[in-house]
Amino acid sequence: MATSTTSRGNWNSKLGFILAAAGSAVGLGNIWGFPTQVASNGGAAFLFIYLLCAFAIGFPVMVAEITMGRKTGRNPVGAFKVLGDNKLLYSAIGMWGLICGVMILAFYTVIAGWTVSYVFEEVFFYLGMTDWAAWISDTGNGPINAVFATLFMGATISIILGGVSDGIERATKFMMPLLLIILVVMIGYVVLQPGAGVGLEIYLLPDFSKVTPDLILSAMGQAFFSLSLGMGALITYGSYLSKKENIPEAATYVTLMDAFIAFLAGLLVIPTMYMAQAQGVPIFDDSGNLLASAALIFQVLPELFHEMGGLLGLIFGGTFFFLLSIAALTSTISLLEVPVSYAIDEHDLKRKSAATYIGGGVLAISLIISFDTSLIDHFVFIFNEIGLPLGGFLICLFLGYYWKTDNALAEMQEGYPTVMTSFFGRVWPLFVKVIAPLAILYNLLSGLGII
Ligand code: TRP
Repeated sequence: MATSTTSRGNWNSKLGFILAAAGSAVGLGNIWGFPTQVASNGGAAFLFIYLLCAFAIGFPVMVAEITMGRKTGRNPVGAFKVLGDNKLLYSAIGMWGLICGVMILAFYTVIAGWTVSYVFEEVFFYLGMTDWAAWISDTGNGPINAVFATLFMGATISIILGGVSDGIERATKFMMPLLLIILVVMIGYVVLQPGAGVGLEIYLLPDFSKVTPDLILSAMGQAFFSLSLGMGALITYGSYLSKKENIPEAATYVTLMDAFIAFLAGLLVIPTMYMAQAQGVPIFDDSGNLLASAALIFQVLPELFHEMGGLLGLIFGGTFFFLLSIAALTSTISLLEVPVSYAIDEHDLKRKSAATYIGGGVLAISLIISFDTSLIDHFVFIFNEIGLPLGGFLICLFLGYYWKTDNALAEMQEGYPTVMTSFFGRVWPLFVKVIAPLAILYNLLSGLGII
């Protein structure tokens, strides 16, 4: 039986919600994925298309998710159950989201573990313990991957145990400003370094000749993953939101913050890559293509930090990987909160048992991945590249044609009394019913090689 909504927890403030949702959005996708995609896809041209996708497709879906969550006060499965009149077909959409979230969390935790192990790598290197540095940063070493994945899951569980406002909200309210400060300080340093100018030029001068249908697809996929859409993370976060808040406004802030941090990460990572090149570290492969993103982050950048040498290398390198770890942690929290809220709402579990059992169960999958990291690519393909767009597509269709956009707008009216007559209120239904699902469907079919 469902528990009453009051015992589920609530955000203490609007800012708390925005920072938690932005924390979910800002993650490895922004600081690792976005800059490496920009660098190989025509610089600011990709940025421009990305922003278009984030606002025209991501934003309407985000509003849809938050509204479903706040209306029902439930997790994704519960929300579909309530709004879908208990029909199994609709609850299955929520369940699919839950499964995708669990699987994404499983591999994300392993990668997040690497970001922590690289902080140690930088320390060992500074201390002259190069063997130790190489040992701890070997991403092919199963036991080490397992240890760091376990640490990371432990940190995630401990925040989730604290609950919505004392756990998630408090942690993200502290980590998000910290992340922003570290980013800005590092950018300030990087842009003044030799070689950085080339990177800035490549980033900020658009090369529209690189805009192809493929690029638009990657921008859309990137926007979806980065905004944490398609699996109900924002249904869950929306379920803790007070009725007095303005949903479209809050979603605007979250989308802007996500895009802004991705933009800043580009300002840091792209010039840094070119600094590395200026120091003689190769960043292109033999055929002139930029190295794969994992190699750039976990090989090229550490080489640069080592070249810098001494305390500077340690501070710069250590801080960079620490930055990645924080960004990852505010995201794993949101991924774990979804199945935890499901267990609390639908199976009457206490938060403590839900967080420990589910976190432990997901960790078991992470441990398997730790010993066979080639699984990551398969997980990414099935759950990110297919699972999330499919989830987003079904959310749009469900809201647009079953629950109906008018009912969603009526929910938004609380906290935004003039929504019906606003510009947003007039165009949003079109985006949810037609534009977003068509764009997502196209993305999905071409990702599968069908069109
Ligand atoms: N948005 C995060 C990133 O950019 C990843 C993430 C966290 C996510 N929660 C999610 C992705 C929920 C999809 C759904 O790294």
